[in-house]
Amino acid sequence: MPTRAFVALTIVLWPMVSVFADIPAGLKPGDRNVPAELDRSPVSLAVFAQGTRALTANQTSGTVSLIDIPARKVLDEIVTGEKPAGVAVSPDGKEAVVTHWWGYDAAILKIENDRLSIAGRVDVGAEPRGVIYDPAGKSAYVAVGVFNEVVKIDTGGKSVTKRVQVGREPRNLALTPDGKTLVVTNARSQNVSLVDLAMFSRTRDIDISGDNLRQVAISPDGKYAILANMKDRRFATTKGNIDIGWVIGQRVTRVPLGGDDYYETLSLDPQGLAVGDVHGVAISHDGRHLAVSAGGTHEILLFRQDLSPLPWRRNGSRDLLAPELTRDTERLRRVKVGGRPLELAFLPDGKTLVAANYFANSLQVLDVDSGVLAAEIPLGGQAKPDLVRRGEMYFHDAERSFNQWYSCATCHTDSHTNGLDFDTMNDGWHDLSTRRERSRKKVPTMRRVVHTGPWTWHGWQKSLDEAMVESFTKSMQGVQPTDDDVKSILAYIATLDYPKNPYRKADGSLTEAAQRGKAVFESAKAACNTCHGGPEFTDGKVHDVGLDEPGSRYKGHNPPSLRGAYDKDPYLHDRRSKTLLDVLKGPHSPENVTGLGELSDQELDDLVEYVKSL
Ligand code: HEC
Ligand code: HEC
Repeated sequence: MPTRAFVALTIVLWPMVSVFADIPAGLKPGDRNVPAELDRSPVSLAVFAQGTRALTANQTSGTVSLIDIPARKVLDEIVTGEKPAGVAVSPDGKEAVVTHWWGYDAAILKIENDRLSIAGRVDVGAEPRGVIYDPAGKSAYVAVGVFNEVVKIDTGGKSVTKRVQVGREPRNLALTPDGKTLVVTNARSQNVSLVDLAMFSRTRDIDISGDNLRQVAISPDGKYAILANMKDRRFATTKGNIDIGWVIGQRVTRVPLGGDDYYETLSLDPQGLAVGDVHGVAISHDGRHLAVSAGGTHEILLFRQDLSPLPWRRNGSRDLLAPELTRDTERLRRVKVGGRPLELAFLPDGKTLVAANYFANSLQVLDVDSGVLAAEIPLGGQAKPDLVRRGEMYFHDAERSFNQWYSCATCHTDSHTNGLDFDTMNDGWHDLSTRRERSRKKVPTMRRVVHTGPWTWHGWQKSLDEAMVESFTKSMQGVQPTDDDVKSILAYIATLDYPKNPYRKADGSLTEAAQRGKAVFESAKAACNTCHGGPEFTDGKVHDVGLDEPGSRYKGHNPPSLRGAYDKDPYLHDRRSKTLLDVLKGPHSPENVTGLGELSDQELDDLVEYVKSL
């Protein structure tokens, strides 16, 4: 593509972004007039120390709700920012912090006479989610997903006071009962980081060999961290493999905090009726109950820990739920709650569980002894979901896969990617008898995917409608979707875009290094833009760049869009490169791709800066 056209497009695509671009139209921070029909989609919750009030962070509406639990009603609601993701309340109940996944900030809220107001805002870094208060109540800790950090914020001074590196894509946080150690779940590095709060340093990473790590809770004796995760078992998505637990399995994982280097797991899936997309974990204060939410199968699993020890397995897992739990409804109860239950918390009474339920637009109250959904406190939302919302629901619905093992969102997490690779058999040359490994492909993002045809890594798929049908029938081994299913999922996917780029200057312009990198990108030597050109940084053609597996029936790959590339690691169709620099120094270096010349270290660094800014 000619350089001048490229520049013109770049300018059109990067207008001055208004500060709160991702708040629903017509609303701004501080507003209270939130339309009743706007979906709230609560993702996170915080229960006050007395157990009578709770806060929810509502992702679609950009709001926080204050709820009176015994009275079953919302006391107040306020717009706080772009896609709220995590919320925590101070020990005295007078202050709260809400993180904004797409705002890259945390808002400090004052709570007075059951009313919320915004006291200030702190920039924390790209894609913050989990947040927790320090026991002293003067500061809070925030997990910053893209920067792989936990930051400490002074809530009074409204500033970041400390930062520490943890694993890749930190999501959720928990604090040991002695207040000394912070436990961090890292979704993409398959581990848990421990942070010593006195020194504010990372003391240990514990490998759990699992994926999609989510909420974490600490046992009351402080001995274990217990978290929800998924396990990629690495076999192709055939019905036979799926139903013996060899494709994807749901787990609760327990890691000892005392210094031992092992982990233990409970496999959750019974054959024939699996559990989809676990997310929330909570433990009652007396340790009797362990609760786990499964958003994909719309249920909450209630374990009794006091009857006899749960069958935890060390450093590995069973394929399926342990037989001793399969029929023991006293030790494990599966409660259908509908919607998509996410974060969980117990009230101080030890027998009431509350759940933030995304698609139900509610805070759910469960009596754990009877397993009865005692109340559903509506937060506000559409009475009848529109096309886009229905598509979002189907995308997250594991019941649409064979024996409800997983949803689209299990692999395309956050409607993006979990960075893993799967053999979904859609390149048609899966062959179990020879090498099951060779057909695996990295999960592509769904962001802007409607603009980046042709589809699949090999670029053979020319129809996005067909790609949807194949996803339902092959990746998920589910039933043929109806026309309305396909239409609504497409409508949903068409709304998906990238969050703002954290590697650009505040006004959206390029840093100096990125400007130099852009010149390299377009130079005759690197010629990146010949394939990664146009508004989506892909030319929609197929190129052989020397990365085909021997014997592949396809030649070459479709250049992936480079938008948001900073968060698409690991790279290339087979995930062989961990960082962008690894891509460009190794298998996909200009001398390997175009053979036109080698780049200096400076040119490579600048090029990486530019690719990060797309
Ligand atoms: C088991 C993991 C998994 C599940 C579940 C899954 N996908 Fe995928 N998806 C993939 C992988 C891996 C690819 C890349 C396949 C290839 O290129 O050969 C892919 C590719 C795609 C593509 C093409 C993207 C592109 O840029 O070329 C679309 C669209 C898609 N999936 C949508 C869906 C939808 C919708 C669902 C649910 C109905 C779904 N997927 C379920 C793993 C999954
Ligand atoms: C001849 C066409 C071509 C040229 C020139 C080219 N690429 Fe690529 N690029 C591709 C293809 C095809 C892939 C996918 C290869 C694969 O995964 O096996 C790819 C993959 C990538 C990826 C991995 C993206 C991901 O999501 O995993 C990055 C990053 C990338 N290219 C950057 C560059 C840069 C920077 C340059 C210039 C130095 C460049 N490419 C030049 C075709 C090209």
